[in-house]
Amino acid sequence: MTTVPAPLVRPPGPRGHRFFGNVVDYDKDRVAFLERCRREYGDVFSFDPRTVVIADPALIHDILSRTNDDFLAETVPLAVRTDEEETAAGAELWMSARRRGWRGLNRTVAEAHALRLRAIFDRSLRQAGPGDVDVLAVMKDYFGRAIADFCVSRDAEGLPAVIAENTEALDPLSRSSYMVPQWWPSRRVRRFVRAREATVAAMTEVVRRRKAAGPPAADTAPDLLDVLLAADAPALSDLQVERLIRGIMLAAYGVPAAALTWIVHDLVAYPEVRRAVEQEAAAHDTQVAPSTTSLPYTEAFVKEVLRLRPPTWLIGRTARRATTLGEWRLDRGDQVLFSLYALHRDERWWRDPEAFDPQRWLEPRAQLQRHTYLPFGAGPRVCVGTQLGMIQLVLSTFWLVREYDVSIAPGNGGTPDFGGLLTPQGLTARFHRRAGQQ
Ligand code: HEM
Repeated sequence: MTTVPAPLVRPPGPRGHRFFGNVVDYDKDRVAFLERCRREYGDVFSFDPRTVVIADPALIHDILSRTNDDFLAETVPLAVRTDEEETAAGAELWMSARRRGWRGLNRTVAEAHALRLRAIFDRSLRQAGPGDVDVLAVMKDYFGRAIADFCVSRDAEGLPAVIAENTEALDPLSRSSYMVPQWWPSRRVRRFVRAREATVAAMTEVVRRRKAAGPPAADTAPDLLDVLLAADAPALSDLQVERLIRGIMLAAYGVPAAALTWIVHDLVAYPEVRRAVEQEAAAHDTQVAPSTTSLPYTEAFVKEVLRLRPPTWLIGRTARRATTLGEWRLDRGDQVLFSLYALHRDERWWRDPEAFDPQRWLEPRAQLQRHTYLPFGAGPRVCVGTQLGMIQLVLSTFWLVREYDVSIAPGNGGTPDFGGLLTPQGLTARFHRRAGQQ
């Protein structure tokens, strides 16, 4: 006897308000809302007709692996309706540029950048001055300069400010679930449209200028743009180079800055952990950049910060066509969301999930279950800066504990802000350079 498969159904979820659905509740406190729904409806639920949320690691991995085929990673700000096929064509262009970009982003290249990074780190912290400073602003300044130097070293002038404005202008739009078109007559929308146009224009100009100047002199270390322009068989188009450089510079600005801000927070919040990081750092000379493999505890500390405070805390995909997810039906254009913040704190996968414990990363078989730790994502759209990002964070932590005393006044420790990124809003600190440090 043949069994007739059950028809696929839509996931359950709260009905919400008659006119506004659940959007108001969701936008008010996204973390609490998602956790409440998960407890009530399970690992797959839907809180509006186009949005499905998943909390099961196997399904999350499934979505990430099927990205580009069945799902799109692209979110297009101010595009009220997404044309899935046009977006998919853009994704293909991106993917072929991205594959070539790997060459310029491997571990050797990232480590070679370390001493330049140290100089940029020093400059940003010195400029911050001795008083209480907004830590996130200092770290954004640092990473803005660092990624501009890494990508377009000789042409970096002015670009950190362009990237900063693009990111700041996007922030208010990413905090609301209400979609507005780009002709919407508001200051926020106009500011973002202007900032995006300015970024495209600045990047296009850098690519044009660099092509006109030709390859770097033999004694000049090539930067990422040199690597991309030297790619052949077939060469990347100017549009691909511009998009990749722009995508990388935007991605490598706010996210690592948020992570390093949390690192500062946690070094102060957990003094015994800081002492262990300091002890490990004491064995190394600050004038040369140690390999991150010689700083295992510091690396474990950074991993623990990224577990409890993943800057990219909420990831979304769009269904490119009608498809399935486990036993559930998805329609074309559906949004699928999952929270790394929730995944990384789920007591089903983590022992004592709320405890800040770097040691867990040093134990054999540290991870209980596959796909439960994804601070850099996974699948074909995994972060291209995973290695560079880890090196940046581990070395910055090393320089920080070796050369600075950091203090945070009571009440200035910041509160978690679940905007576009997870950041400690309002964290201010003093960075006091120790005597004897140059
Ligand atoms: C240091 C901490 C960093 C963290 C925690 C981080 C995290 C992430 C995550 C979670 C994604 C995937 C988002 C998704 O699946 O939708 C991502 C994508 C990306 N990241 Fe990072 N990132 C970091 C640093 C960097 C750096 C240094 C670079 C640049 C070299 C970079 C470049 C990118 C790019 C270009 C993407 C988009 C990849 C694509 O869509 O094909 N990231 N990052």
